[in-house]
Amino acid sequence: MYQPLHLKYRPQTLNEVIGQEHIVRTLINAILPGGSHSAIALQKIAPAYLFNGPKGTGKTSTARIMAKSLNCQSTQEPTTKPCGECNSCKGITASSSLDVTELDAASNSGVETIRELISTTQFAPVEGRYKIFIIDECHALSSQSWQALLKTIENPPRHVVFIFCTTEIHKVPETIISRCQKFDFRRVGLETLVQYLSKVAQNENININAPGIWAIVKSCGGFIRNCLVLLDQLSNLGVDEITPNWVWELSGIVPEHDLLTLTENLAKGEVTANLQILQDLIEYGKNPFVIYSSLTGFLKDLLVAKTAPDNRQITQLEEETWLELVTISQMWELTQIQASIALLMSRQQLMRDSEAAKLWLEATLIELSNIKEEKQPWTNWKTIQDAINWGKEQLPHLSQSELERHWNNLTPIKGKKAPAWVQLVQELQMKSQLQTA
Ligand SMILES: Nc1ncnc2c1ncn2[C@@H]1O[C@H](COP(=O)(O)OP(=O)(O)OP(=O)(O)O)[C@@H](O)[C@H]1O
Ligand SMILES: [Mg+2]
Ligand SMILES: [Zn+2]
Repeated sequence: MYQPLHLKYRPQTLNEVIGQEHIVRTLINAILPGGSHSAIALQKIAPAYLFNGPKGTGKTSTARIMAKSLNCQSTQEPTTKPCGECNSCKGITASSSLDVTELDAASNSGVETIRELISTTQFAPVEGRYKIFIIDECHALSSQSWQALLKTIENPPRHVVFIFCTTEIHKVPETIISRCQKFDFRRVGLETLVQYLSKVAQNENININAPGIWAIVKSCGGFIRNCLVLLDQLSNLGVDEITPNWVWELSGIVPEHDLLTLTENLAKGEVTANLQILQDLIEYGKNPFVIYSSLTGFLKDLLVAKTAPDNRQITQLEEETWLELVTISQMWELTQIQASIALLMSRQQLMRDSEAAKLWLEATLIELSNIKEEKQPWTNWKTIQDAINWGKEQLPHLSQSELERHWNNLTPIKGKKAPAWVQLVQELQMKSQLQTA
């Protein structure tokens, strides 16, 4: 039977939940029955839990595991290793357990549903130890619904456990949050995810190389479900070996080599070539906002390459890409990179909202090339006097001889005086502005 990877690999015990160690540890302590360990013996199952975190990071899976752990019939007490075989465990997996109610608040947000649900909390569980209510997407509940729930959560029957799951905790009333034991699920670390996906690929006989796995993880930004869905799609392509190119093709993210070319062209002020790349990307079905945010992210990497060329690990770029980026960074001035990032950031809203995102992106690419040109005043200098005249324009309060003295004392940057001059003049300018301020 065909089963999508993200369902086939849904974790069934807490030990299989990856990247959420802090949560797993606390839950294991909460579930373990009283006994010889006094600290744990004092723990009791809280009446309400709140699982908060981004999409596809394990909230629903963990809620179900929690339900199984509390109700598994293979042991006398709640267990951290639910058997998966008993009626209760099977029922929960199949969403048919009488004691476990899963409610998708996004489609049932009305107070009637909640009142009905609350009325069932009076009855003892049928086969398990607890009656468990998993409320998914709970931020969608109406305020009336929350009102109705509040009383029950404050004073719940002993056998009742609520597990609220949400991706938008800011929409959950504070009165509720403060009455729940809260767990923050996070995006999983890229390294952890790479290891996990490699194991899944091996298990499934999917032939994907290591850079391919990295490309998946990066394009999905640490979200496990997205990674598994993408790996699934890639495995259906029927290619001999899955490489980053396939990943880029399918994932809608912008290939790193395109970002490199865009960045290099910006440095050279080659506008037409960049507009062509943009056109091609869009024809390939890449979304303008994704192109925009990839470029912004890449310029931030460029900033790292410029200022800390030994710190590749901050950027998550491939070694090869990184080395090229470090080379390109030498064509950029630090201030230009900063100004370019600032310009891009200021366009964020336009790129997101506007139907004309593509036009804005074109306009921004053109402007970015201008930032580059403006900031290179020396392109027009032929003699030393040209440089000094430019300095005089920026620093009118300095005399010719003072300027000449500064010029003569310059330490060249990579053997060149002009960039060092620009840097010095800008520094002096800043100082005099600070003094007059
Ligand atoms: N922490 C994790 N460990 C292992 N697999 C995970 C984890 N998180 C997500 N997955 C994978 O993603 C799938 C979906 O996870 P789950 O439904 O638990 O996410 P969720 O946080 O509830 O997401 P949503 O907010 O979209 O409801 C799982 O079936 C599993 O394959
Ligand atoms: Mg969920
Ligand atoms: Zn069981």
